[in-house]
Amino acid sequence: MMFARILLSFFAPLAYAAIAGAWSTFVVPHTEDADDALALMTAISGYASDASIVFEANTTYNVWSPITFPPLTNVEVVISGNLSYPTSIKTVQGHVAAANYPGAWFSFTGGSNVTLRGNTDPDWGWVDGHGQQWWDIMQQTNRPSGWLFKDVTNGIIRDMKIYKPIAWNFATTGSNNVHIFNNIILAGSDNASFPFNTDGFSAAGTNLFFENNHVVNGDDCLTVSNGAKNITWRDSYCEGSHGLSVGSLGRGGQVASVENILFETTIMNRTLYAARFKSWSGGNGAAINVTWKDITFIDVMFPIYITQNYWDQTDGPRPSSSSVNETHIENFLFDHFVGVINDTPGYVEGSCITDPCWYNVSGATGKEGVIFDLYPDTATNIVVKNLVARTLSGAPVAVMCNSSTISSDTGFVCSDGPYVPTQAGL
Ligand SMILES: *[C@@H]1O[C@H](CO)[C@@H](O)[C@H](O)[C@H]1NC(C)=O
Ligand SMILES: *[C@@H]1O[C@H](CO)[C@@H](O)[C@H](O)[C@H]1NC(C)=O
Ligand SMILES: *[C@@H]1O[C@H](CO)[C@@H](O)[C@H](O)[C@H]1NC(C)=O
Ligand SMILES: *[C@@H]1O[C@H](CO)[C@@H](O)[C@H](O)[C@H]1NC(C)=O
Ligand SMILES: *[C@@H]1O[C@H](CO)[C@@H](O)[C@H](O)[C@H]1NC(C)=O
Ligand SMILES: *[C@@H]1O[C@H](CO)[C@@H](O)[C@H](O)[C@H]1NC(C)=O
Ligand SMILES: *[C@@H]1O[C@H](CO)[C@@H](O)[C@H](O)[C@H]1NC(C)=O
Ligand SMILES: *[C@@H]1O[C@H](CO)[C@@H](O)[C@H](O)[C@H]1NC(C)=O
Ligand SMILES: *[C@@H]1O[C@H](CO)[C@@H](O)[C@H](O)[C@H]1NC(C)=O
Ligand SMILES: *[C@@H]1O[C@H](CO)[C@@H](O)[C@H](O)[C@H]1NC(C)=O
Repeated sequence: MMFARILLSFFAPLAYAAIAGAWSTFVVPHTEDADDALALMTAISGYASDASIVFEANTTYNVWSPITFPPLTNVEVVISGNLSYPTSIKTVQGHVAAANYPGAWFSFTGGSNVTLRGNTDPDWGWVDGHGQQWWDIMQQTNRPSGWLFKDVTNGIIRDMKIYKPIAWNFATTGSNNVHIFNNIILAGSDNASFPFNTDGFSAAGTNLFFENNHVVNGDDCLTVSNGAKNITWRDSYCEGSHGLSVGSLGRGGQVASVENILFETTIMNRTLYAARFKSWSGGNGAAINVTWKDITFIDVMFPIYITQNYWDQTDGPRPSSSSVNETHIENFLFDHFVGVINDTPGYVEGSCITDPCWYNVSGATGKEGVIFDLYPDTATNIVVKNLVARTLSGAPVAVMCNSSTISSDTGFVCSDGPYVPTQAGL
């Protein structure tokens, strides 16, 4: 099992003043062959402030039903033992389908100064979703999300280790000022069964700082969604994923707002995309000031990709858009991307299960380092700078770009053709 921590940095976590006062600790009890979530749910209201809730080491807990934390103040949840989801698919589906399902298998629902902490022991502290059996039969009905960290102010998610999750992992919806670091997500499949929708992290909050995370999965490594502001992601590793993404935005006319996003110093290994923006036809609002910088990509199909015309081809042919409104994009910078484009003839990524693939770009040659699929007059100041790319086959690197959709210098000659840097791209 590989969980090398790359590029460790010693960044001081958010500092809190120490307080005096009663601190209580709840060690979650474990009973063989029983659901350990129940005892925790019964006790939890007594530990909603100034407390530690500990899943202790050397114990494999049965988390056979969802756990919902009430709003917490000054609480840390420590995962030192292993946590196991039900091995029965039907049991999980039953909970997800229930009217009172909280939205994730583990839900934090607000409060302040909340820490979720795993450990760095290679043998303990894993959360095992038994996802492989779901992937093997492509079971996609009533799948749970993993960890919802919602509406928390001042939080930490660190040292968490996730093994074969069923689907989506960490969400930060509505949270503010959270440091998310040293987490490991291993959602690699043992065989060709694809780990669909195993998104790593989603950022839909403000002032979120992600670093030193290691993600092997089958969907976005990080996805930045509507409402996100001041998000930094850096010093991380993504393998097999669908990229460092903004979006999708603007579905069903949504008024999107995304601002001040920085993705930096990340290795994208055998991913479908490296940097990606996706919005749906007919959206409103804007994504402003987004930078992807110092990205290393290894055998990636689409290193830099923007579409304002997102459409899952699995849903049938793309409808023609007569929309006058689009999600605007302003001040995007792709700076210093170095790597190799996977243009192996006939190669299809594992999530491609239809013909054409959901990610098919009509007219693409597979050799594109950059694809800009833009609507006219909706994108300004989108620049690709210091792109150092080659293809696996050795063929010249290409681009796709329609010069009647953008008037500012994109950093390369905007056409469907070879990659030729311009003044702004050097
Ligand atoms: C866990 O087990 C190991 C090996 O038996 C032991 O050294 C360690 O003290 C135990 N830890 C706890 C917290 O019980
Ligand atoms: C925040 O919570 C931690 C435990 O996770 C505690 O040690 C610290 O005192 C709390 N900070 C404040 C300001 O209460
Ligand atoms: C804890 O879970 C991980 C992932 O399932 C597993 O590899 C490890 O062996 C487990 N530890 C123990 C002591 O069973
Ligand atoms: C993966 O392995 C499982 C269990 O052996 C099997 O049921 C499934 O068909 C395999 N999937 C593929 C695509 O090989
Ligand atoms: C952005 O968020 C970080 C924490 O992630 C914080 O330290 C910084 O002050 C925030 N910047 C602004 C301008 O709010
Ligand atoms: C753009 O976003 C970055 C990263 O979040 C931030 O440091 C910078 O101040 C922002 N620039 C403007 C003009 O807001
Ligand atoms: C990329 O992934 C492959 C396959 O998992 C692995 O063998 C290789 O070591 C990885 N490369 C890097 C630089 O991590
Ligand atoms: C298009 O944008 C205009 C101006 O912001 C707004 O009034 C209108 O409702 C939008 N139309 C749709 C279909 O979203
Ligand atoms: C992509 O779609 C085009 C038609 O839109 C088709 O000719 C091509 O074969 C497709 N490529 C893949 C890899 O599905
Ligand atoms: C380029 O964009 C313009 C404006 O949207 C459109 O009319 C034209 O068909 C596009 N050209 C190509 C080759 O897609």
